[in-house]
Amino acid sequence: MRIVTAQQLESWLATGRIVERDARGPKVVQLSDGRFLKIFHTRRAAMLARLFPPALRFARNAELLKQQGIAAPHVSEAFWLDDQKGLSACLYEPLEGCSLEQILKQDPEQLERILPELARFIAQLHAKRIYFRSLHLGNILWLSKGEFGLIDFLDLRRKRLPLSGWHAQRNFRHLEGYLQRRKINNFPLSTLKGLYWAYANNCKTKKN
Ligand SMILES: Nc1ncnc2c1ncn2[C@@H]1O[C@H](COP(=O)(O)OP(=O)(O)OP(=O)(O)O)[C@@H](O)[C@H]1O
Ligand SMILES: [Mg+2]
Repeated sequence: MRIVTAQQLESWLATGRIVERDARGPKVVQLSDGRFLKIFHTRRAAMLARLFPPALRFARNAELLKQQGIAAPHVSEAFWLDDQKGLSACLYEPLEGCSLEQILKQDPEQLERILPELARFIAQLHAKRIYFRSLHLGNILWLSKGEFGLIDFLDLRRKRLPLSGWHAQRNFRHLEGYLQRRKINNFPLSTLKGLYWAYANNCKTKKN
């Protein structure tokens, strides 16, 4: 991976719009040409991040999703911002769409209308052995072309073995924790789960 200069980073930060930041600094920046810069501050030891750069894992996950027919942003490059500290980043093209969290805020009825499709989308992810720990309303986009897409998928894994009902339950428990932390109390989680289990069981019956 190439090392991006401090001047380049400064110029991106000066001309772009900071979308997300935390105590360690900017995390997601939209550049003036529309691309997104995602910076991977790491809590792990710098040595581990140097060996397994998160930006590279993110880029690989974007590829994996595309191979599996799931919409994800196109990552054009992964690079170091500071290789000694293990600070990596990548550039990607945004997906055209709205997060489910925005839809729930602006038009909760629209969210209810697409709930069966959302349940099927999650069931299909699981059927493809894809476990996305951060599968929550901020990381699922409803795209203008009428399908779902994923962002922020650093912690996504494709398992070797089929996912069990236990995995699905754990995935929904994480989603529930997210709703509680964000104090979102108008999301129809139990309806979503009901629809999900109907699809998942239907897929199983078809296989047998
Ligand atoms: N590909 C994309 N297309 C459209 N919008 C995007 C895209 N990527 C990021 N965004 C916008 O930026 C916001 C934050 O991005 P992202 O979810 O990647 O970071 P984050 O939630 O801050 O990261 P983390 O979960 O690691 O703390 C999203 O909620 C979305 O509004
Ligand atoms: Mg996010």
